[in-house]
Amino acid sequence: MANVVIVGSQWGDEGKAKIVDLLSRNADYIVRYQGGSNAGHTVNAGGKKYKFHLIPSGILNPGTICMVGPGTVIDPKVILREMNELKDQGVDISNLQISAAAHVTMPYHLLIDQAQEEARGSKKIGTTCRGIGPTYADKSSRSGLRMCEFVDPDALLEKLKVLIPEKNIILDRLYGLEPLDIDKVFREYIEYGKQLAPFVFDTAAIVWEANKARQNILFEGAQGTLLDLDHGTYPYVTSSNPVSGGACVGSGVGPNFIDRVIGVAKAYTTRVGEGPFPTEVKGSSAKILRAEGTAWEEIGTTTGRARRVGWFDAVLMRYAIRVNGMDCLALTKLDVLDDLEELYVCTAYKDIRTGEVYKDLPAKSNFLKYVEPILERIEPWRDQVENSADATEISQLPEGALNYVRYLERVLEIPITIVSVGPAREQTIILEDPIHGPRRVLETAI
Ligand code: IMP
Repeated sequence: MANVVIVGSQWGDEGKAKIVDLLSRNADYIVRYQGGSNAGHTVNAGGKKYKFHLIPSGILNPGTICMVGPGTVIDPKVILREMNELKDQGVDISNLQISAAAHVTMPYHLLIDQAQEEARGSKKIGTTCRGIGPTYADKSSRSGLRMCEFVDPDALLEKLKVLIPEKNIILDRLYGLEPLDIDKVFREYIEYGKQLAPFVFDTAAIVWEANKARQNILFEGAQGTLLDLDHGTYPYVTSSNPVSGGACVGSGVGPNFIDRVIGVAKAYTTRVGEGPFPTEVKGSSAKILRAEGTAWEEIGTTTGRARRVGWFDAVLMRYAIRVNGMDCLALTKLDVLDDLEELYVCTAYKDIRTGEVYKDLPAKSNFLKYVEPILERIEPWRDQVENSADATEISQLPEGALNYVRYLERVLEIPITIVSVGPAREQTIILEDPIHGPRRVLETAI
């Protein structure tokens, strides 16, 4: 038995869903611990495409209990749409459990998120406009609405009578928007509450019992380390804690529940939305990294925005390994690099103001705005006969691709246990057992 956290190492979109899909086959429980409908991913399984925003993709495995944990924020319309789409595709959703403590994204959160972004002008964050920031802000300021209240009509009405007049002042006076009608919102949302009520549970108590019964629990993070509210590239971050520590708070378990932390990183870097991106690439290599015209194309599942692309950033990755206490790494999308004429990895930063070189990320405000990446050239492998995408085992990888994986292990000092070379389930190479195999050894280079 092992309880595992799967965490994104970069700015989200690392391909966590595929790794969760792989590891969830041995999981009895999956707990999504933070974020809301800002997340999005597609899983290709059995010739079908499934889109997910809030529900763990492990719902495709019959027998796995899938929880949307206390640390998440839930837009009732989005989760109901997702539930109905899955049912229409023949998926049994009776194993879905939503935490009674999760907070609810209401229509005023969506309106405020959009209005705030517009008001920020050139300083916008580039949010997904799914109401995430305002929902978490209400939670922190203790004016949020929790699932247990949402599914109780009396509690819902009582809350809306206080909250909507307050929000109307903001909507009207600050943003010049139409106020919301309490009755109309109540009548619409009470229906959603009725549909969601059978799925609402004290998920933290259930996880406690599951752990006692020595069941395997997988904690699934959304977004990525650099979007973490406390440890990411603030203020260009999301409003929750994707880092592994967030798994404890966002699921309601103690740190001693966690046996392993597995990071997921792309073989290069992408970012959606605004904010610094030291290794960003433009031009012909960017077209290849964006995987234009392929099933892998770098377009956001939730917003349809093109992702910004860049070289692998070992400085940020070392930081992610540290703040998550990562044991090992799953490297995804290695095949995208097959056609590159040039390939680089950022191993350090130079401060353009002082000339100082940094191998680790210092905690200085706005630091990333003033750095130039120090890039190490890697021999590309486009002239080799083999393609990464065709490899099903390590010996079939192009020599250059394998050298790249081994090089990353050396500069990051962490074992890479899984390499993904395409969207299909079979395009996954297990180098070492990610759960019981080697883990990062402190002070010992691999
Ligand atoms: P929010 O989470 O919608 O408030 O957006 C804050 C920042 O996080 C923006 O830069 C978004 O593009 C980014 N973001 C939020 N969710 C995801 C995700 O699932 N993948 C990648 N970026 C995301």
